[in-house]
Amino acid sequence: MTQAINEIRAQFPALNQDVNGKPLVYLDNGATTQKPQSVIDALSDYYRLNNSNVHRGAHTLSDRATQHFEDARKTLQAFLNANKAEEIVWTRGTTESINLVAATWGRQHIQAGDEILVTGMEHHSNIVPWQMLCQQTGATLRPIPVKDTGELDMEAFASMLSDKVKFVSVVHVSNALGTINPVEDIIKMAHEVGAKVLVDGAQAVSHWNVDVQALDADFYAFSGHKLFGPTGIGVLYGKEELLNAMPPYQGGGEMIEHCSFDGTTYNVLPYKFEAGTPNIAGAIGLAAAVNYLNGLDRVALEHHENALLVRANELADQIGGIRKVGTAPKKASVFSFLLDGAHPADVGTLLDQQGIAVRTGHHCAMPIMNQFNIPGTVRASFSFYNTMDDVERLFAGLEKAKMFLL
Ligand code: ALA
Repeated sequence: MTQAINEIRAQFPALNQDVNGKPLVYLDNGATTQKPQSVIDALSDYYRLNNSNVHRGAHTLSDRATQHFEDARKTLQAFLNANKAEEIVWTRGTTESINLVAATWGRQHIQAGDEILVTGMEHHSNIVPWQMLCQQTGATLRPIPVKDTGELDMEAFASMLSDKVKFVSVVHVSNALGTINPVEDIIKMAHEVGAKVLVDGAQAVSHWNVDVQALDADFYAFSGHKLFGPTGIGVLYGKEELLNAMPPYQGGGEMIEHCSFDGTTYNVLPYKFEAGTPNIAGAIGLAAAVNYLNGLDRVALEHHENALLVRANELADQIGGIRKVGTAPKKASVFSFLLDGAHPADVGTLLDQQGIAVRTGHHCAMPIMNQFNIPGTVRASFSFYNTMDDVERLFAGLEKAKMFLL
């Protein structure tokens, strides 16, 4: 595995540099992942050779750009095992995908007295769009409780389900804790009361292959930049019959079929939801990232990531003085913690001085931080290109930080 990981690392230029005089240890993959050379090349090739607007030019470059852009959609369809390419809507990222559903499906279906459920461990992007919808409609947003380990309280969830619940929006993997939620069960249970379900997969798709049909998710959202692709591009998957019945989101550009001052008719899927010139380069870059992943043994790499997490837990126990935040039995490779007596921001700064990149703070998930009564955590989030040596460097770095801080 070490050789394979070293070969993989050689494909990621940003990993191979010194930061503050030390070889970079990049452990902030939950915030964004680094990009392989093939993604960088795909972006550069697009701008060097094919740059043009899509779906509207009567010339060769526009045809080429359109072809690459629509091929990218098919790549993402296959990646998610969606039934049709039309079910893949390009967005700016997870946040826009969720806002789109709240603003369209939500405003069409949600009424006063209805309930929308999210989990208590959501990122703000999967709370605030629903809060806004509830303010507009008089519906109620209810958080599903989270246990002290960071596991979702599934008994509480079962007891919250009723015919008042119209929508359930849940995170697949918690960005702050690493908890993997049992989304298959959640979807099944929600469907039994007639509710629709959106899964925020921003932190899941980088760890394993997701099959939206096997999950029976109504909507699935994620961002390209957390999947080794560019920033500013994301995906909303939606079941065709739901997307078809939803009103458009933004007006203009490709979402229009016919426009007059007497009224406008809208384009078919997926263009109905893609107003304005889309992020063409982003879509092509994201497809390049997926193609790159398709060439890897993702199951073996997931085991490798799990081994990194196991090692992090062992080293944390050895050095002591570490409070782990999020100890659910099913976790992705996210190690969130507090160093006793030290503020997370100070720990992050001292690690950065040693070339180690982590995220500190509330991770845009203030409600779960409030539940644990902490201002935030230090978060090391591992990807498949991280090594055991990176984990050792993190804990050696923490030992050093302790000398300064405690
Ligand atoms: N939600 C991203 C993170 O967890 C930005 O860092």
